[in-house]
Amino acid sequence: MRVGVVGLRMGLHLASWSRRVGLDVVAACDRDPERRAEAQARLPGVVLTDHWRDLLDRRLDGVILANDFDAHAPLAMAFLERGVHVLSESAACVSENEGRRLVDAVERSDATYSFAENYVLHPHVRLLRRVVEAGEVGRISLIEADYLHGMAPETVDALIGDPAHWRGRIAPTAYCTHTLSPVLALTGEWPVEVSAFVADEADPRSAVVMVVRLSGGALAVTRHGFLQGEPDSHWSWVSVRGSRAMAESVRGPGERAWSVRVRSEGWTTADRRTRDEERVPPTLALGHDGVERSAEGTVLLLQGFRATMERGEPALIPVRPAVAASLVGVAGARSLRNGSRPEPVPDFAGPAAEG
Ligand SMILES: NC(=O)c1ccc[n+]([C@@H]2O[C@H](COP(=O)([O-])OP(=O)(O)OC[C@H]3O[C@@H](n4cnc5c(N)ncnc54)[C@H](O)[C@@H]3O)[C@@H](O)[C@H]2O)c1
Repeated sequence: MRVGVVGLRMGLHLASWSRRVGLDVVAACDRDPERRAEAQARLPGVVLTDHWRDLLDRRLDGVILANDFDAHAPLAMAFLERGVHVLSESAACVSENEGRRLVDAVERSDATYSFAENYVLHPHVRLLRRVVEAGEVGRISLIEADYLHGMAPETVDALIGDPAHWRGRIAPTAYCTHTLSPVLALTGEWPVEVSAFVADEADPRSAVVMVVRLSGGALAVTRHGFLQGEPDSHWSWVSVRGSRAMAESVRGPGERAWSVRVRSEGWTTADRRTRDEERVPPTLALGHDGVERSAEGTVLLLQGFRATMERGEPALIPVRPAVAASLVGVAGARSLRNGSRPEPVPDFAGPAAEG
């Protein structure tokens, strides 16, 4: 499969892993010459360009979009129109209108759209999903997800202080896809309404909490941004409380953060004994090599993209949940502007078969 990559920071990481999972990265693009120089060194043989439109003519099977967070949809639509499969980083879109046009473009195209949401495929989330699908927690009532970085104030400022960079110009609710995508995958529900709150009114851009009503009736609480106490599982922590049990990734340091604690009270067990145990997710290998925990999601994502392109397998995270997760951040920004008032999230559930 001939693949191109747009944006060569996260994109370079994805390009390197793409080659390791057997994708042929033939072309890449960045407007920054320094990024292109680094790509030249790390991706021998790749054709480099400074404009993404040049990739439209390179007979690609697929493209990986890792350009600015708030600029993915127009590129995705252009490649889909050319019949090129798209793997797009977060976010999928920045408005309801853009989301609808993106869904239309996917439905019109012979090619597919996959959301590059490695957080759904991280070890702790995969194990939680197995626990939920086995029926151990029962009906989900409350689900929480964190995506948090515990950084020094000057480091945070260097990251989000420049309004010319996407990290500085996006709303503090926008980068919610790494929490909302696991929430939607674990519950199988859709976001209906969101209220957003800044964590600290004295520092309103750093961190937000969102409270999201889901279509099946459960409540999701998500926290993201910059707060002390970052989880060692790639900044992600997820907790699910159901009608029969609770399952959550361990709030502990190092490797334990990838493990999942399952607690079932005595009233739910045959022998009336409370069960409280920690389970370690299975490891992942690529050929003879083990894959480090934080890269497992990326490897599975890229293998999934390859299977979609080569064998027509369904996208791991298709366009509708990608758009829905992204629009929670958009509606959340409106809620912030309106004194944390609940705001509706547009319905992107679509025909049941599209999941
Ligand atoms: N899933 C993950 O774990 C993860 C991790 C990091 C970043 N990301 C996502 O990847 C995307 C990029 O993030 P980043 O940290 O690499 O950002 P970044 O700003 O550090 O890098 C983006 C690169 O894309 C280039 N670029 C932007 N627009 C371009 C265009 N139109 N044409 C050519 N080059 C262009 C920029 O010059 C820059 O080098 C974002 O959507 C981000 O959310 C995801």
